[in-house]
Amino acid sequence: MAIDGMAGTGKSTLARALASRLGLTFLDTGATYRAIALVAMEARADLSDGEAVVDAWRGHVLGISAGRLTIDGEDREEAIRTASVSESASRIAVHPQVRKMLAEWQRGFVEAHGGAVAEGRDIGTVVLPEAGLKVFLVARDEVRSSRRGEVTAAELAKRDIRDATRRADPVRAAEDAVVLDTSEREVGELVGELAGIYWLTVGGEG
Ligand code: DC
Repeated sequence: MAIDGMAGTGKSTLARALASRLGLTFLDTGATYRAIALVAMEARADLSDGEAVVDAWRGHVLGISAGRLTIDGEDREEAIRTASVSESASRIAVHPQVRKMLAEWQRGFVEAHGGAVAEGRDIGTVVLPEAGLKVFLVARDEVRSSRRGEVTAAELAKRDIRDATRRADPVRAAEDAVVLDTSEREVGELVGELAGIYWLTVGGEG
């Protein structure tokens, strides 16, 4: 299942809860962009240069273990959640080389787990275009920025524009996605609704 949307639309909360309800693995693909950004920052690579970012990553191994992101087997879950890594992740996510490398890793992860609830920006359009159920979440700007406490509304707006207007895989709803506004909705209610749609449309198929 693919769940896409901008920052603060509730993707992670919803995807995690749905995965647990459906007995599927949860994949936060934003964490994988954050991992590349962290390593590139630590290597002092030029984040505006896609080749330099891929070079800085070369030789490292990405993992997700018990829902926590690892780099070379080391738990880096906390390190990738800072505001500066968040900003850098949006910057390195514009590079097609980075996106290609991560999309391959993400598909491999989903296959290895026999399916997953994957959330991100391009899951329904690029990573898993054959997903049985695609969901695109939206929410009002003020709701999104209050959910993303670590960034100001202005920073969030800047990142939104970068994520939605980049040439490589911009954030957009797949044509066959179910579009849901989460501004006024409870997580439990949305999980129930999507789990229902999942069983009706996909059944046990993935
Ligand atoms: O969801 P997040 O805030 O952890 O994502 C961090 C950045 O990574 C975000 O600015 C957009 C980018 N991203 C992406 O381009 N494609 C994805 N599938 C997931 C995240």
